Amino acid sequence: MQFARLVRSRRMVRSFRADHPGRGAIEAIVELSSRAPSAGKVQGWHAVAIDGERLDDFWRVNLPPDRRGSFAWPGLLRAPVVLVILADPDEYVRRYGEPDKLATGLGEGRDRWPVPYWLVDASFASMVAMLAAVDAGLGTLFFAVADEAAVRREFGVPGGMVMVGALAIGIPDGEDQKGRSAGRPRRAPTDILRWGGWT
Ligand SMILES: Cc1cc2nc3c(=O)[nH]c(=O)nc-3n(C[C@H](O)[C@H](O)[C@H](O)COP(=O)(O)O)c2cc1C
Repeated sequence: MQFARLVRSRRMVRSFRADHPGRGAIEAIVELSSRAPSAGKVQGWHAVAIDGERLDDFWRVNLPPDRRGSFAWPGLLRAPVVLVILADPDEYVRRYGEPDKLATGLGEGRDRWPVPYWLVDASFASMVAMLAAVDAGLGTLFFAVADEAAVRREFGVPGGMVMVGALAIGIPDGEDQKGRSAGRPRRAPTDILRWGGWT
């Protein structure tokens, strides 16, 4: 798809068909996202891919059945794949302790990082993944993990990893209800760009 059209057509999808696009499609999306830029080329992001029966476990801990009645997007629970997006700060601290990065001081510890590049990298990669999914005719929703501790326990996520969020991927069923934030106007470039300084 032409790039500008691809970017403009991407919308968060909260209602999916249940059929699986195939693990190969997900692997192709992740392969493209591995082209995202990465500080020190650490590439310290990971994705726990959940599908099949394990999806029941994900939703059981993340949205227990007694809370589903009032859930605004039941079609989200049909998404055939959920990627839990993780970032590993330790990999960055280690990398920035290597000789070519030593002068930055960032190898001394996580608290030395004014900007947590592990989150920047995971975000860039997630964005590429979302666009790659749209290009493949799929839809995605990046969403917050409601019960992080329970998801960690259930899927054995190591303690040092930051859980950045989750990415539902699947074929949109066209039944989407708009998200609560959808009515907010998109900012114009003139509201974003400040040529020459803040004022
Ligand atoms: C960091 C982040 C967290 C988000 N968390 C949620 C979420 O938990 N649930 C949800 O329905 N949408 C979530 N969204 C989707 C936003 O509401 C959505 O991107 C925004 O309203 C703009 O809509 P669009 O992406 O369809 O253009 C999240 C988006 C981002 C970037």
